[in-house]
Amino acid sequence: MKFLVTGGAGFIGTNFIYYSVDKYPEHEFTVLDSLTYSANLKSLRPIKNKIKFIEGDITEPETVDKLVASHDIIVNFAAETHNDNSLQSPENFVDTNINGMYFLLEAVRKYNKRLHHISTDEVFGDLPLTSPDSFTELSRYNPSSPYSATKAAGDLLIRAWVKSFQIEATISNCSNNYGPFQHVEKFIPRQITNLLNDQPIVLYGDGKNIRDWIHVSDHVTGIWAVINKGKSGETYLLGANTPLSNLQVAEILLDIFELDDSYLRFITDRPGHDRKYLIDSAKARRELGWHPKIIDFPAGLKNTVDWYKFNKSWWKDKKEVTEANYTLQTTEKK
Ligand code: NAD
Ligand code: DAU
Repeated sequence: MKFLVTGGAGFIGTNFIYYSVDKYPEHEFTVLDSLTYSANLKSLRPIKNKIKFIEGDITEPETVDKLVASHDIIVNFAAETHNDNSLQSPENFVDTNINGMYFLLEAVRKYNKRLHHISTDEVFGDLPLTSPDSFTELSRYNPSSPYSATKAAGDLLIRAWVKSFQIEATISNCSNNYGPFQHVEKFIPRQITNLLNDQPIVLYGDGKNIRDWIHVSDHVTGIWAVINKGKSGETYLLGANTPLSNLQVAEILLDIFELDDSYLRFITDRPGHDRKYLIDSAKARRELGWHPKIIDFPAGLKNTVDWYKFNKSWWKDKKEVTEANYTLQTTEKK
């Protein structure tokens, strides 16, 4: 089978490609990526002979049409993904996450191909901090940020194309990923690289917001479980049931680095900051036989710290630019 992996030079796409070329050598993998600021071509360099790489944009209908026609399955990771950026300038989010999705869907419909789309738990909005609930496939869409609203719109387009045009498509909505190759703008790599640079961890608001963490390698096996066993038209929620406040994650990092609380810095909160996400992945576990393997979060985090420690050349340049941008947005909390 020929796989077209859109957004394959980003964090999760890169991890997907590494796993896939090793586990499925019988398949061919083409990466289509427009190489936005969040991509890193260094990531795919060691396996460049095992894949085909095309620099191109999912918002260009001709590119999408031609490539979808010549592949069997499209796995879509391409997106603008950072909530903070979506609050500063939402336009790219609408372009890629909605219009790009539309062009992919039209090509999938025209050539009768299979689509698997990578989506997020953020489409459901947030839960109160003390809620005993978790999101299921039946939870109401209620996004908070321009990022999550555009991801929700993308999911709804897919559902409409399945119902109206009978395209073959599946969606997986995953919780917060961590692991190697994640851009330093995101919470965990930002704090790891801060500590490696002898800078403090930066917490928004009171640090009590909860995220449900999953190692990216478990997300990748979940995606393959949907590709191999998922039913067209269905949505699958993927999560490792690891809800932790940002402050708890920060404390685990301080333990790993053997530092004290003087390395914590609280700043003004993110506007519209979602309080809590939590995924109920019972359907994926039951129907696909998928189970996350890395359930010891501190151990997974320690491996991730080691990866950033030994791959400074991968993140050093992006770190400087990212922190300069954050400085423009940030005010210290009194
Ligand atoms: P990322 O920002 O690291 O990577 C996104 C990739 O898409 C980049 O390589 C970028 O260059 C590419 N891209 C952006 N716009 C494009 C366009 N118009 N055409 C072609 N390529 C384009 O993001 P990620 O964390 O790897 O996320 C991948 C997908 O998984 C996204 O759809 C995201 O919404 C979803 N997701 C992420 C998480 C998470 O915790 N990171 C959790 C759940 C779902
Ligand atoms: O839930 C899945 C989503 O997880 C994905 O769809 C998104 O693409 C991905 O970016 C992520 O969104 P979040 O907004 O949850 O991730 P982020 O890493 O930006 O922030 C995680 C939490 O940490 C959030 O509560 C905000 C907080 N935070 C973030 C940064 C960058 C801080 O306290 N300090 C920071 O410096």
